[in-house]
Amino acid sequence: MPKKTQIMVLGSGRALPEKILTNDDLSQRVDTSDTWIRSRTGICQRHVAEPGTALSDLVTAAAQNALEDAKIAAEEIDLIILGTVTGDMKFPATACFVQAKLGAKNAVAFDLSAACAGFLYGLQVAEGLMATSGYKHALVIGGEILTSMVNWQDRDTCVLFGDGVGAVVLGPSDGEHGLLHSCLKSDGTFAKLLYNPGGGSLLPPATPGADPAEFSIHMAGADVFRHAVTAMTSVLQQLLDEAGVQTSDLDLLIPHQANLRIIEAVAKRFHLPKSKVFVNVDRYGNTSAASIPIALDELRRSGELKEGALVGMVTFGAGFTWAAALMRF
Ligand code: UT7
Repeated sequence: MPKKTQIMVLGSGRALPEKILTNDDLSQRVDTSDTWIRSRTGICQRHVAEPGTALSDLVTAAAQNALEDAKIAAEEIDLIILGTVTGDMKFPATACFVQAKLGAKNAVAFDLSAACAGFLYGLQVAEGLMATSGYKHALVIGGEILTSMVNWQDRDTCVLFGDGVGAVVLGPSDGEHGLLHSCLKSDGTFAKLLYNPGGGSLLPPATPGADPAEFSIHMAGADVFRHAVTAMTSVLQQLLDEAGVQTSDLDLLIPHQANLRIIEAVAKRFHLPKSKVFVNVDRYGNTSAASIPIALDELRRSGELKEGALVGMVTFGAGFTWAAALMRF
């Protein structure tokens, strides 16, 4: 059986922008259709932030939600890790804005850039820091306003993404519940299959004559799809093997919500029935680092996560980065 847990989820929260963009709305902008988007991705709608929304405001709302749920005061938080690629500004870290907005004056705060794997990377980083630095309570958050870097003329990508934030408060485990194991992976040789070329030091925003399309998401969709299925399958298998857990022991799998066909392909390889695979990509689209913590919060608040449930989580994203984690709730 898996090793003893060191940290557990004490509370969770989420925040979604109010505005909803449907597939029909998108078909007014680009040559696409509700039928194509639903059948190729499973997405029906996504939440989108109004232009000018600060990610830190959404993150603060989700974090406050999680703190209330955990019954922990902001001052008791020692560590804030925000997985994001769409922070308020280039610097400082959006986690620092969040620390100030929460009044979490005792927390060390930083952003973690691992795209869709940001939340699961954050969990393992928090576990390590909590073990070595004496931190008792941590906020681990995945949050994105991905629509701020979407090219609304590019039908290949603009239909896929949505905005949102999910957060958890972590604390010392009671020995039974919590994070049992996690595996993190990276392979930078595929970096340019999914990236945003502009806006960094290589192609600064003020570059004369730069093509505005360079400042948005570029993705070789079919290649990313293939890698996602293979990588998610292998890291989940590694997780189960290393934890000494059979697939049939899992009560639920929470896969990254990028595309229903990717989720179904991974589930099929593990012979997991639909009832054991969580899906909400239809309502949110791909919210990158936020997708797993939003799902966790939905499941905790709806009561679907029963006491003692063994939950696998698996994700894949730009970098490439990918990861899996096993938790007992
Ligand atoms: O979160 C990080 C990980 N990201 C992912 O995991 C995303 C991975 N990739 C995907 O989910 C899928 O590859 C997409 C949903 C992006 C695309 O689905 P696909 O089945 O791989 O389609 P495709 O790119 O092979 O394109 C098939 C056709 C093309 O037309 P032709 O060349 O066959 O005539 C595209 O031009 O579909 C066309 N197409 C569209 N048609 C209507 C592409 N986007 C659209 C669209 N509406 N929005």
